[in-house]
Amino acid sequence: MSLRTRDATLVELMDDPHCDPRRLAATLRRFDLVNRLVAGWGTVYRTRLRPHLASLGRPARVLDLGSGGGDLVRRLAAATARDGLDVDVVGADPDPRAHAVATATPSPGNARFLCTDAASLVGRGEPFDAVVSNHVLHHLDDALPAVVDASLALSQGVVLHGDIARGSLAYGLYAVGITPLAPGTFLRTDGLRSIRRSFTPAELRTALAATGGSWQVSTPAPFRVLAEGRGRA
Ligand SMILES: C[S@@+](CC[C@H](N)C(=O)[O-])C[C@H]1O[C@@H](n2cnc3c(N)ncnc32)[C@H](O)[C@@H]1O
Repeated sequence: MSLRTRDATLVELMDDPHCDPRRLAATLRRFDLVNRLVAGWGTVYRTRLRPHLASLGRPARVLDLGSGGGDLVRRLAAATARDGLDVDVVGADPDPRAHAVATATPSPGNARFLCTDAASLVGRGEPFDAVVSNHVLHHLDDALPAVVDASLALSQGVVLHGDIARGSLAYGLYAVGITPLAPGTFLRTDGLRSIRRSFTPAELRTALAATGGSWQVSTPAPFRVLAEGRGRA
């Protein structure tokens, strides 16, 4: 098994509509801790999102596209409130199983969830001041160009897509580190498949360039890629 090439043929267990619903719900709930440990959103919030939202000088709306169990929505809602910013954070995910977990978990008052996909949100014509996503890009096959284009259409400010950077060190460390958190979930199998499905920074740059949008791809934290775009809403 080589991590030199991206393996987009792998299917994650959570993407099976017939997967065990209890394990799926446990997986979505435990993303909260895993994302806190590995996803680097503390840095991205402090260096990109908070300065942008503070610069607006007015109430703002942030969209988390593909919000899963909703942990990033809750975290951003709590962080913006703590920083004295008047921000509503909306999580959108078309999977009703994810929506059920997101809405069943206690959330700050400035967080809410919609069970819908990117294209339907564009159809609503309600722009956001920032659009973010976490661990969505590597999930998308042929849908990647449409989803990233929708993210630009939905934002009148920054667009930030965070994901895993594929690499053998990330794979090895995750394989060991996830062991205590994995029981009762799909975290081990799907996390390792996710790493093998993920882009290197150079691959993501190429994939996004092919969508026709203008993107900057960086590595804001270890084993992470961040694609930054400017919305056109
Ligand atoms: C690996 S999960 C990531 C969930 C969450 N963002 C996290 O970090 O834990 C990818 C999510 O993207 C969602 N998704 C897939 N296609 C989408 C689309 N077209 N619009 C919005 N969300 C989508 C899936 O339903 C899934 O919940």
